[in-house]
Amino acid sequence: MRNHLRLGVNIDHVATIRNARGGRHPDPVRAARLAVQAGADGITAHLREDRRHISDGDIDRLIREIDRPLNFEMAATDEMLAIALRHRPHAACLVPERREERTTEGGLDVARGRDHLARFVRALKATGIRVSMFVEATAAQLDASKAIGADIVELHTGAYCHAEGAERQRELDRIAAAAVHAERIGLECHAGHGLTFDTVAPVAAIPTLMELNIGHFLVGEAIFGGLESAIRRMRALMDNARAEAGGERSA
Ligand code: PXP
Repeated sequence: MRNHLRLGVNIDHVATIRNARGGRHPDPVRAARLAVQAGADGITAHLREDRRHISDGDIDRLIREIDRPLNFEMAATDEMLAIALRHRPHAACLVPERREERTTEGGLDVARGRDHLARFVRALKATGIRVSMFVEATAAQLDASKAIGADIVELHTGAYCHAEGAERQRELDRIAAAAVHAERIGLECHAGHGLTFDTVAPVAAIPTLMELNIGHFLVGEAIFGGLESAIRRMRALMDNARAEAGGERSA
């Protein structure tokens, strides 16, 4: 159903809080279970090279215990490829990764890294994993993603979320144009990074987007009102924006 916009809840920062004390609480798998109850269509987790949040054991348990699609975010390295092939998540999203960054600061440069990335796309797809590329919203990045066989592009919404006023509108227009281009060239289109209650609706209203991945804000909001309530509110904002854009309002 084209009109349903999926929500992937990223649970990385539940693990960040757990790791601050080195114990088991709060458990990101428990958060994933709650996210599903609250309306998440899938769970997203980024296993970083430095294991700063999600651990190998978390991925193992997410695969075994959560019966919703896992979107496994990974750097294009042989270590991560071996882990993905072993677990066979529903999807793998290739992201750029630098040890010194606080979060994924920009999109993957698929246009420049084609030769390196194509091998990862081939190997993942050969085992039935859907492959997504986390990119800036430009036609060049989308065309390069298509050329190396990716199934999906996830558009980086960080610049849109950080901008204000006319600049934010320009960023939104760029994302909307890229979403149209993705559909035209046969790529499924997702978006994410930095989305909040205040910024999600205009992105959710873009009709060719199929999925949003949202994490940090939801985990932060959970401190004030609980994770379930934060996800339910995000879900409602997305559904209403999509319904209004389609000329109908959800109940
Ligand atoms: N999508 C991708 C590819 C990401 O790397 C991240 C951050 O891990 C997100 C979505 C979610 O971003 P945020 O945590 O800011 O909502």
